[in-house]
Formats: sequence, structure tokens, C-alpha cells
Amino acid sequence: TAPLRVALLGCGTVGSAVLRLLADQAGDLTARIGRPVEVAGVAVRRPDRHPDVPAELLTTDAHGLVTRPDVDLVVEVIGGTEPARSLLMAAFEAGKSVVSANKALLADEGGELHAAAAKAGVDLYYEAAVAGAIPLLRPLRESLAGDQLRRVVGIVNGTTNYILSRMAETGHGFTEALAEATELGYAEADPTADVDGFDAAAKAAILASLAFHTTVTAADVHREGISAVTSTDVARATEIGCTVKLLAICERVPGNEDGEGDSVAVRVHPAMIPTTHPLAAVGGAFNAVFVEAEAAGQLMFYGQGAGGEPTASAVLGDLVAVARNRVTGTAGPGVTTYAGLPARPIAET
Ligand code: HSE
Repeated sequence: TAPLRVALLGCGTVGSAVLRLLADQAGDLTARIGRPVEVAGVAVRRPDRHPDVPAELLTTDAHGLVTRPDVDLVVEVIGGTEPARSLLMAAFEAGKSVVSANKALLADEGGELHAAAAKAGVDLYYEAAVAGAIPLLRPLRESLAGDQLRRVVGIVNGTTNYILSRMAETGHGFTEALAEATELGYAEADPTADVDGFDAAAKAAILASLAFHTTVTAADVHREGISAVTSTDVARATEIGCTVKLLAICERVPGNEDGEGDSVAVRVHPAMIPTTHPLAAVGGAFNAVFVEAEAAGQLMFYGQGAGGEPTASAVLGDLVAVARNRVTGTAGPGVTTYAGLPARPIAET
């Protein structure tokens, strides 16, 4: 049978892990999808920096690659808003389904991208955009779609969790712990995105949108990072039986007596939580998301939230889902209800 051909946009830590897993698991993937998956091309800025990728696959023309007639699916692991946004829009217009790991883009333009994918009748999956390897977005938008969610509270940034954990374990200062996190490949290219909470805020916006079937953007999220947390703060928290975590909190706020309806409040800030809380045990670069739902009760999702291979695992899971839909001629569940609870203005949270 004819292979499904994938365009890979970006070949950094995640992209190269995606290529590795695709090659290692080619046989199993073919069996699971029903057709072999082949890499049609890899778009990068500097081909000379990718000696491990067969030269004939490398191109600097990402737009040309996504619109090529022999490409069936697009995997975007470039990150950032542009050119990723234009490339995804071009892919949808050309009738290609997309798997993306791009939290910043999904947080800012999730509504528009879903609308474009729906219009084209193709898929948009982005499990890797939040909490790396942890299956979380599909459970929120599919498995829990029959329930009413009350709160979603998560540790969704591995770098800051690593930093705070190391500060607690070793008494080290912030700078030393950040250098370690960067060395281990957890931090963003510009670690201020992690440290100042932008990365967590983007992920919180995506979580809130899916959990509450609405549109929350990163601009709706109250945000405070960890740069003001000192080793003394961390030591003091330990003394009183607490631990400091950077939390992303998305919650339903009930309407008031004046008849104003429910809304969603979303915020990211460091918090002291008792060491008895399940989130307190989440150490290192791990992520965890604690969900409270009316019927399901409490749920916790835990695992590796950063790093090439764990993130690539989520990308490949999406790739299998999208490829299967392609083989059966269906589209995935999508997100069709971007009309739910309004995000609460930041000043009121
Ligand atoms: N810099 C991010 C983190 C990578 O530390 O969690 C995963 O999104």
C-alpha cells in the first residue's frame, strides 16, 4: 500500500527525536496505522546543522514542503507564532492534517486554527503542546467531554519545577538550578519563557480552553513567574510542611446574584502547597495535572512534561491518530464548541 507521507517542520530536540522514533518503530507503526509512514521532507533554517538527516530530505522552503502534493500530513515542531501560523494555515488550505507541539501558537490562535482545520475537513492535534508525554488534552476534550469540570490545577513547566525542586533539595540558588535545567534540555531557547511563567500561561490557556469548551488565550491568564522566589522562601516552606510549586490554575467561577453567568478564571503563580497534596510529590522536571470534575471526582495525570523523547512520544501518538483518520477517511473529534464560558478579566481573578 502507498505510504503516508509526512512533512516535518523543525528538527531541534523534539523534531530529531520524532525522526528517530519514526525510524525505530516503522514496522509497528505500519501495523497500527495500516499503511507505512514515510518522511517526505524536513524543513529547517540551517541544513548544514543537521548532518544526521539524509541531505535529500532537508529543505529551507517550509511553505513549499507543506503544500507539496505528495505530502499527506504535517508535523510542526518549530515553535513560536510565525512562521508556524502561516505554515499551518497553508497546510489546512492544501487539505493536510496537522500535528503540532506549538503551545504559544495554540494558546494565541487555537480558535482560528481549529476553525481553519474544520473548514478544510482535516485534523489538528497537539497533545505534545502541554505536559509533554502525558496524555492530557485528548482526555480533557474527549474522555471527560460528558462531565462538568470544576478545576484543573497543574505543574506544567518542567524547568521551573526542576529549579524549585533542586532549590529545596540542595539549598542551591536559582541561577545554579536554572543552568542545570538548561543543560538537561528542559528549558526553552530563551529560559525567561519558563522562569517568568509565559510557557505555563500558554499551557494554562490551552488546558482551560479544552477543559471548559471555550476560548482562553494567553493574554487572559494572570501570570507571575518564579524569579522572585528565594532559597529562603523555599527553606521556610519546607519548615512549615509545604513545598513551593509554580501552579497553573483554571477554574469555573460561579455566576453572581445579578444573573451574570459562570466564567473561567485562569492564573499561573508560585504557591505553597502542603506536602500531603499529590502535586507536592511531583519532583524534577516532571509535570502533573490534577482535575476535579462533578461526576468523575478527582483525577491526576502525571509524567514527563519536557525533553525530546517524551515530547516525541506525544507527537507520534497524534501522528498515529491523524494517520488512522486519513486511512479511514474520517476527521478526528476536533473542537466544535468554542462558545463556552467566557474567560474572566484578569483584574477580577
Ligand atoms: N520548557 C518547557 C518546560 C518544555 O520546561 O516544561 C516543555 O514544554
